[in-house]
Amino acid sequence: MSEAVWLRVDHWIEDTLLPPDPALASALAASDAAGLRAINVAPNQGKLLMLLAMIRGARRILEIGTLGGYSTIWLARALPEDGRLVTLEFDPHHAEVARANIAHAGLADRVEVRVGPARTTLAAMIAAGEAPFDFVFIDADKPGNPHYLEAALALSHPGTVIVADNVVRDGRAADPANTDESVVGIRRFMEMVAAEPRLVATAVQTVGSKGYDGFALALVV
Ligand code: SAH
Ligand code: DHB
Ligand code: MG
Repeated sequence: MSEAVWLRVDHWIEDTLLPPDPALASALAASDAAGLRAINVAPNQGKLLMLLAMIRGARRILEIGTLGGYSTIWLARALPEDGRLVTLEFDPHHAEVARANIAHAGLADRVEVRVGPARTTLAAMIAAGEAPFDFVFIDADKPGNPHYLEAALALSHPGTVIVADNVVRDGRAADPANTDESVVGIRRFMEMVAAEPRLVATAVQTVGSKGYDGFALALVV
């Protein structure tokens, strides 16, 4: 099975189940024009995130890692009109591009982009007693994943869904001899999830237009 087949199938899924979406298309075009790397989730993955948040009935969503706001737009569409999404981004340029994309998608009223290192922003949110989130999407720097899991738990309640992107990385995550700091972060994250009695979790491998990777999915009980 080759990457050409994965790509063909992803395009077939998109053509079949995802209608043309001008707001998302222009978000990707603007991100590309602004020089952002195309490491956003794939369209069918973005829609999966939206569906998971809809199934959860999420009213408050936390995203760690905004980039140009592509996954942000998908997730924000799961919210009711009075819902709220807070997304955390280290890079001010990414945040600026994301804010414009989110506004263009008509979601500026319910999305807030907070700029700074996510660890600092999360610590401030916890210290401020910010209300818990119903859905958390972890998709920033991978060495930070163990820390982001702890912060996500601190900002959760029973019923919160936690999704992490990029937990497979072409299979490198399953190689205990790999000492790359991203792989170490992903492996530590998975071990912490497994050891956490508040979490029921699994992970799935994915292939497609974004290559070979995977999602972890956890429910706070
Ligand atoms: N969720 C996005 C992709 C995010 S890419 C989507 O699917 O559309 C990862 C993002 O995390 C990048 O924009 C990067 O600048 C940001 N990031 C990296 N390290 C970070 C940190 N320490 N704190 C906050 N954001 C960080
Ligand atoms: C990278 C980050 C991501 O969130 C992703 O989905 C793909 C790649 C990266 O930092 O290389
Ligand atoms: Mg990712």
